[in-house]
Amino acid sequence: MEILRTVADCLRWSRSRRSSGGEETSQLIGLVPTMGALHAGHASLIRAARARCAHVAVSIFVNPTQFGPNEDYARYPRSFDADCALAQGEGADAIFAPSVEEMYPPGAATFVEVEGLDSRLDGASRPGHFRGVATVVAKLFIAAQPDLAFFGQKDAAQVSILRRMVADLRLPTEIIVCPIIREPDGLALSSRNVYLSADERRQARALSRAVRWIEAMAAKGERNPAVLAEAARQIFAAEPLVRVDYAELVDWATLEPVESAAPGTLFAVAAWVGTTRLIDNTILG
Ligand code: PAF
Repeated sequence: MEILRTVADCLRWSRSRRSSGGEETSQLIGLVPTMGALHAGHASLIRAARARCAHVAVSIFVNPTQFGPNEDYARYPRSFDADCALAQGEGADAIFAPSVEEMYPPGAATFVEVEGLDSRLDGASRPGHFRGVATVVAKLFIAAQPDLAFFGQKDAAQVSILRRMVADLRLPTEIIVCPIIREPDGLALSSRNVYLSADERRQARALSRAVRWIEAMAAKGERNPAVLAEAARQIFAAEPLVRVDYAELVDWATLEPVESAAPGTLFAVAAWVGTTRLIDNTILG
């Protein structure tokens, strides 16, 4: 497995891999963008990429521009050697792990903004977050030139932003969305779960309980978004360490609130559990 540190090296890797099968063979390049601290959720993305692509790169870059000034950039978990071992075990061919200076050269003043969508859901409580995500993902796509890029549904709002960016810029990369991977008790896997104390970890199950409860209510025919969102809030109210940021039913493409929940509607929640902000969601069936 190759470790690539610069955009030029990553671009070279991608171009050489694409041409490695000769002109007749389709040599799909897959990219799994990550911020490291890889877990079973990331492993499932790498496996999905491996299944569909001839060549798979995993990027590991803790992107400073998607963290607010009082967020956890400095203490975000970093475990490069373990990440490389996991990625290699799942069949990745290359790791792209640039420095901050490589991704943001001194004086960098160019950013990608997905207007409107970037101030919905997480964008409302984390101003600038999606601008940072769109910018870094555009840079990763320029470096790796992927045909397919793999993201988890857990970051459902991020997926909407990136799909819009790809469509607007007519980028030649398809966004592939993979299912949320959960702990046996339902908690969605997240690199931030390591921050939780034992009490917080117990109460964090409220997020997936709310998701399951809303799925069940919708399956029984409840369509009113206000009723569904209130039911979720009731679940959080029983957990003193949990403070809801949002619990909303929105159109997955536009992130705008829906008037009536329907198949394909995104129910998304974000909550602070102690000082850790967690998210979860479901696409109603
Ligand atoms: O989902 C993530 O881990 C990050 O937001 C991403 C897409 C790697 C961009 O930094």
